Amino acid sequence: MITWYDTIDSTNSEALRRLPELPSGTVLAAREQTAGRGQRGNTWFTEPGKNLTFSIVLKPSGLAAGEAHLLNYLASVTVAEFLEGYGVSCCIKWPNDIYVGRKKICGILVENSLSGGRVAASVIGIGININQKEFPQLANATSLSLATGREYVLEDCLKAFMAVFESLQHKLEGLPAAYTSRLFQKGVHARYIDYIRDGEEFTGTILGVSHDGRLIIHDGAVERLYRFKEVGYIL
Ligand code: BTN
Repeated sequence: MITWYDTIDSTNSEALRRLPELPSGTVLAAREQTAGRGQRGNTWFTEPGKNLTFSIVLKPSGLAAGEAHLLNYLASVTVAEFLEGYGVSCCIKWPNDIYVGRKKICGILVENSLSGGRVAASVIGIGININQKEFPQLANATSLSLATGREYVLEDCLKAFMAVFESLQHKLEGLPAAYTSRLFQKGVHARYIDYIRDGEEFTGTILGVSHDGRLIIHDGAVERLYRFKEVGYIL
């Protein structure tokens, strides 16, 4: 079921507050977020009424904590297939930013509750820029409307998104291939920053992701494997 709020602090925060009572599959969407949250403690700003900002509650039965990255893949691949449905091709910048060309169109914030080595519940928060055309504070943002030159009805977009999500959510085994095939800068020699090695800059080539969701970069000599926040892109 989809519930729309005119204004709320953050759909992820609301989903977390109401988590015990919300059934798996619940979607909370907002026309305006006053305290939207992004990765790394950042704030997620969007123009009210222009974009999709929503959270999906999942209570997966039997997903091991070590497979939690599959929920990131599920969200990322759904966004990619959703955009492709409007004729827009995109890339997934590991772990889960969605880019059109070199501009970000969507951010994803997955917050999991673990219990007994399993994912008991997951709040998958997604912000997709739909009709916003100007991003004064952000140099590298874009939207569906900027990509296609058209305007969209947000409620219709969310229904289209959820149709893709529901078709993929029971096919988790196919997600690593679908995710890897869209990986940003895969096979491209590029610059990165290694936070495990004191912010060392290096050049390398993304090869893919490991079975546990780490990013694999070949630096010309060896393969380096990174978890979230251990590596950055120099764009
Ligand atoms: C990022 O930093 O790229 C992740 C942004 C995630 C934003 C979405 S908008 C809906 C949901 N509610 C939030 O407060 N954050 C997520």
